[in-house]
Amino acid sequence: MENIKISVAKGDGIGPEIMDAVLKVFKAAKVPLDYEFVEMGKSVYDRGYTTGMTEEAKSSVESTGILFKGPMETPKGGGVKSINVTARKTWNTHSNIRKFQTIKGVDTVFSKAGIPINLTIVRENVEDTYGGIEHYMTKDVAVSRRIISRPGSQQVIRSAFETAIKEGYSTVTCGHKANIMKLTDGMFLDTFYEIAKEYPQIKVEDIIVDALCMKLVYTPQSFECIVLTNLQGDIVSDLCAGLVGGLGFAPSANLGDHIKIFEAVHGTAPDIAFQNLANPTSLLLSGVLMLNQIGLEQYGAAIRNAVLTTIDKGFYTGDFGSDRTKSVGTNEFSDAIIQELDFSRITDSNPAKYQKPIPLQQNKMMVSSVEVIETVGIDIFIETETQADKIAEIVQANLDRDMEVTTITNRGTQVWPEGSVFTNLVDTYIVRIEKNTTAEIKKKKFMEQAIRLYDHLNISSIEMLISINGKRKYSLAQGQKVVAIS
Ligand code: NAI
Repeated sequence: MENIKISVAKGDGIGPEIMDAVLKVFKAAKVPLDYEFVEMGKSVYDRGYTTGMTEEAKSSVESTGILFKGPMETPKGGGVKSINVTARKTWNTHSNIRKFQTIKGVDTVFSKAGIPINLTIVRENVEDTYGGIEHYMTKDVAVSRRIISRPGSQQVIRSAFETAIKEGYSTVTCGHKANIMKLTDGMFLDTFYEIAKEYPQIKVEDIIVDALCMKLVYTPQSFECIVLTNLQGDIVSDLCAGLVGGLGFAPSANLGDHIKIFEAVHGTAPDIAFQNLANPTSLLLSGVLMLNQIGLEQYGAAIRNAVLTTIDKGFYTGDFGSDRTKSVGTNEFSDAIIQELDFSRITDSNPAKYQKPIPLQQNKMMVSSVEVIETVGIDIFIETETQADKIAEIVQANLDRDMEVTTITNRGTQVWPEGSVFTNLVDTYIVRIEKNTTAEIKKKKFMEQAIRLYDHLNISSIEMLISINGKRKYSLAQGQKVVAIS
């Protein structure tokens, strides 16, 4: 059987120690892998690479399709982006899969109560506020753009259903906040129910994310596979890690259509680096997820079983465990795991299942169906410390007749034409201008209004208002009355 080549980045802090421990276990288990060691992380930033990876590392990962990585440090300040987030976004690993299972020997409130946990969080991994598109609009107001796309949602939701099938789950739950973020989370939720039709054998349900958190803490056994947008998924997955004993026990896989990244979920733990204290379990279990993905399930099962048996027998690194047993170092812990490897579990494997990525010539454009899009208005962001009725006067005096000011808002709350003097203001208003005719108005004409207003008001940004197939695709202000758009 031919070995599979993967790219390995040991990482910073405790990274090299835990990666060496994991590769020692892999070697003992005779896992048929070849390693291409690549440079990523702090030492690469220090040499002036702002992406945190060398060209050789990039081409290695794009050729093998698999990156197995230790935790990496992102230098603070200096405007460089996190290598972890950059890697996930650059290679479009759209789905972050984290599995949370009760581990015998790791005491939690649930294990003590005899409540087993077996759930998987599938988190969107590229979009949302992690786009990092942020601006100061004025001295007092910063804005973040939260991008949710239909194709991006489709990718992660499909991954969730495929994961459910692989894991033998019967239900997929969509966590969201579509009651507040009606368009972004609304799109994610609509997409969830659309994709669900392709998987009639799986039961589906949705739940608002705050209620989800409460229920996860209350009855975690009532969930199997939960799919979420990026930020909500980030928070909920750490909550789930807490349910099973902490970040050290939760493996993580970042799956894309071409490239897959497997990593420990914790950081570089600089406080315990180079002291033989680090716990390699999270990286080991992530390695098991990797073996399962590339057709080496039997090796994965044998290693996972050896890890669980070791912990159950009372071998602990110092970060967890109990007073019952003395803790051991990273090296002793991995040696104990090797002692527990049961080779009778490894009879054959099927590495042919793993396909290296096909080299791509250009970026893939993902588009959904063709729909009729019409521009129906414009939101103009204005920096001022005056009151809203004064702004309305200025805008109305400079507007074409086929348009009107429908609302002026401050932090999303309407302050004109109606409002309350109890609404506190900041120095950014949004003036909404909408067409008051059924005739089509060209986008350029809305832009011209903004340019004309620029002579009278301090405009900091604009946003076009569109309708798709006659349906309004912009949020209403708190307190805004609905007007017909055509
Ligand atoms: P951290 O996870 O490194 O450490 C938090 C606490 O947990 C520390 O007390 C540490 O000793 C302990 N800990 C973490 N992993 C452990 C392990 N395997 N065994 C035993 N104890 C462990 O989080 P922190 O301190 O917020 O971040 C440190 C650095 O790690 C930062 O530079 C951060 O940017 C980076 N980081 C990298 C990540 C990645 O590469 N995926 C993820 C999170 C943070």
